[in-house]
Amino acid sequence: MSDTLAWNTYARTRPERRATNAAGQSTWFNWTQYPDHGPGAELLNPSPGRTALDLGCGKGGNIAHLATLGAPSTGVDISPTQIDAARARWGGANPGLAFLRADAHAFLRNTEKQWDAIYSVYGVLWFTDPAVSLPLVHERLAPGGTLAFSHRPPTPGCYGCQASYIPRGEDEDPHVVRRWDYTPEAWRDLLTDAGYSAVTTEVIPAPPGRRKVGTLLVTARKAA
Ligand SMILES: C[S@@+](CC[C@H](N)C(=O)[O-])C[C@H]1O[C@@H](n2cnc3c(N)ncnc32)[C@H](O)[C@@H]1O
Repeated sequence: MSDTLAWNTYARTRPERRATNAAGQSTWFNWTQYPDHGPGAELLNPSPGRTALDLGCGKGGNIAHLATLGAPSTGVDISPTQIDAARARWGGANPGLAFLRADAHAFLRNTEKQWDAIYSVYGVLWFTDPAVSLPLVHERLAPGGTLAFSHRPPTPGCYGCQASYIPRGEDEDPHVVRRWDYTPEAWRDLLTDAGYSAVTTEVIPAPPGRRKVGTLLVTARKAA
């Protein structure tokens, strides 16, 4: 419950995605914390009929883009504030797009479905324990399916479970949620131990400018 409150607070501080990106598109996929930067949806091989699940979808911009490419698409988020915003912006526009308010682990445990692509952009694969997430996602991936996720690279020396602070008002303590920071090499081992293959990891550099923190991007496959 406290995570839900924390993420609702976070949701209220986050702006809506812009109406169009720099290329003039009204939907697009963004793996990094910077606009108009990094790879796009091609990492997930989207195509009509190939199903996609976004864990920690936030306000839904990425999963809405996959839906426009014909992928039957589901976005799950623990925060009602995020899901309300996602439905208000993208709901109804595409019959193949659904948003669900749920804790991702509970959702994965309670479904029999499998997806061709499961992903998380600064989402559930960062903010929940991978010892739990990785096996759950593996079970819910279709044979040959892809897992992909991104998050900020770890601060050197700070690995495993970390406290992550979500500011509230001036006179209130911040909310605290947990996240799991790993190096590319550690993710490779964790994923391989959990039964994934074809693991790739890269740190995408920040765009030119003052910001220097890149984005750690991980992909893996379930055996066909
Ligand atoms: C940093 S935001 C990223 C949102 C979105 N992926 C984006 O790129 O804008 C993290 C999201 O993960 C969601 N989240 C965190 N823990 C979750 C959980 N256990 N189950 C489902 N969603 C969760 C939060 O509510 C929040 O919307």
